[in-house]
Amino acid sequence: MLSINTADLSAVELQNYLQYAIAPRPICFASTVDKDGNVNLSPFSFFNLFSTKPPVCVFSPSRRVRDGSTKHTLDNIYEVPEVVISIVTYAMVQQMSLASVEYPKGVNEFIKSGFTPVASDLIKPPRVAESPVQFECVVNNVIALGAGPGAGNLVLAEIKLMHISEAILDESRRIDQQKLDLVARLGGDWYARVNSDNLFKVAKPNRHIGIGVDAIPYHIRNSKILTGNNLGQLGNVTELPTDEDVDSYAQQLEIKELLDATIGDSQTRELQLHLKAKALLEEGKVEEAWKVLLV
Ligand SMILES: Cc1cc2nc3c(=O)[nH]c(=O)nc-3n(C[C@H](O)[C@H](O)[C@H](O)COP(=O)(O)O)c2cc1C
Repeated sequence: MLSINTADLSAVELQNYLQYAIAPRPICFASTVDKDGNVNLSPFSFFNLFSTKPPVCVFSPSRRVRDGSTKHTLDNIYEVPEVVISIVTYAMVQQMSLASVEYPKGVNEFIKSGFTPVASDLIKPPRVAESPVQFECVVNNVIALGAGPGAGNLVLAEIKLMHISEAILDESRRIDQQKLDLVARLGGDWYARVNSDNLFKVAKPNRHIGIGVDAIPYHIRNSKILTGNNLGQLGNVTELPTDEDVDSYAQQLEIKELLDATIGDSQTRELQLHLKAKALLEEGKVEEAWKVLLV
């Protein structure tokens, strides 16, 4: 492996490695105002949720890598500690990119990028009308992580009021992940779109205590066919099927045929069973996969 001491790299070099590896990152639009009421709008992907109650998200306007100067968003927050965080979706990505251009101080990026400002209810900065989720926040704290080029400034923004478009809600009026169509930033010019083509679910393990990969019998755990993801699924069950369950499953014609065809050839038998179990796991049929593996 390439091992690099971070102290040996410049901010530009570090940025490359870190932003490719620590990805994808959600993108927020931060709207702020200065003390004279001039509006600023900029996207940030050093952004995430860090507390649920109180609801706090954090984003980081870094010092410019070029000359170490601070960004207008940060300057504004020091003058007026309020920010609207508007979530960026695929439909907004090109205009969002335009808004990231380093326009001179006082230039309103709502106008430059063609987004529509909507007055907030509680705070001075406006919301982005085109965004389906907008958070009105007060800034509780700013933590400077350094004073040189590339140094981050953590803006701790407490969400006071949420505005959520009806268009992305399901029947129970919760957000439908598939309707949101989020985008995320990766390294360089790379972005990712998060929609039903690439969304998938993983069964939550924390409702019950899974047996763990270490409790999977050795010959299954060391299978040449099953992957780490497959073992994770197998280790997430609370108990193994009973001998009776396995015996009755083994009466199925397909399994009987497989067993008959491999009498005296334990290697082929194991291979066939593991291939079948893997196919079942990929369909999410974990219990059935266990029965196949224990036949
Ligand atoms: C998708 C995207 C994500 C960005 N994320 C960040 C970030 O997390 N931190 C940062 O300092 N700049 C980030 N930038 C660059 C800023 O948006 C850019 O420097 C902007 O001009 C800052 O504007 P301001 O000086 O008006 O605050 C990002 C740009 C894009 C397009």
